[in-house]
Amino acid sequence: MQIGQLLGSGRSADVFELDDAWVLRRYRHGGDAVAEAAVMSHLSTSGFPVPVVRATDTSSELVMQRLSGVTMLQAWMDGAITEEDAAALLARLLHQLHAVPARVSVLPGDRILHLDLHPDNVMLTPQGPMVIDWSTAAEGPPGLDWAMSALILAQVAVGPASEVAAGARSMLTALMGNLGALVDLGDVEGGHLPQARARRAADPNLTSQELGLLDEAAALVSDLALRLRQVPAADA
Ligand SMILES: Nc1ncnc2c1ncn2[C@@H]1O[C@H](COP(=O)(O)OP(=O)(O)O)[C@@H](O)[C@H]1O
Ligand SMILES: [Mg+2]
Repeated sequence: MQIGQLLGSGRSADVFELDDAWVLRRYRHGGDAVAEAAVMSHLSTSGFPVPVVRATDTSSELVMQRLSGVTMLQAWMDGAITEEDAAALLARLLHQLHAVPARVSVLPGDRILHLDLHPDNVMLTPQGPMVIDWSTAAEGPPGLDWAMSALILAQVAVGPASEVAAGARSMLTALMGNLGALVDLGDVEGGHLPQARARRAADPNLTSQELGLLDEAAALVSDLALRLRQVPAADA
């Protein structure tokens, strides 16, 4: 397998060109590409927009369909998508993902969860949005996935990068408006939000500065969730 140029890097992996159709995603510090491939294949078969996966036999490398386009984060930074549209798309993808039956769990409410679904893990391709980076995928209640996405945006919203922070806050507010009546995030005291906070706190990819923002971020999500419960959206 001839490995070509580096196409993109995130916190945990590098993605290299193989040819016009395929890329190689390689974990830098280990990971379970086999489990990831199984989830992605299940989702592909179910019609959820993920890159097609080619059989993988090593735990740190995954060969998948090459996507063209930019991430939604990049599109937002370029002014090509508004916060409201980005939030609506994230919400649509979360709702669509949680409509897919679980692969392993037999608990009635359990679904496949991405648990890191944020604007840098959605690629806007000519064929439509595609969700990448399934390293954190698990099965469980959808509310936990929503709480993770909200908390990730909230961490940026309360962070020091003021221009991006203001946009992240708008995106978070719009995302929360798209929750729907059936998803309950809980608050800082209980429910999915503290579980999401605990997961983020255990993420080895987070900097100490980001860890230090977690409480403020959780409080922001909790406040927004409370406000939504007091003034339910017309279509919720
Ligand atoms: N299937 C793909 N085709 C083309 N580029 C990709 C593909 N998957 C990921 N990338 C690029 O690689 C970057 C990092 O990928 P990602 O899976 O999100 O890694 P990390 O877990 O490190 O965040 C993405 O932001 C994107 O630019
Ligand atoms: Mg990523």
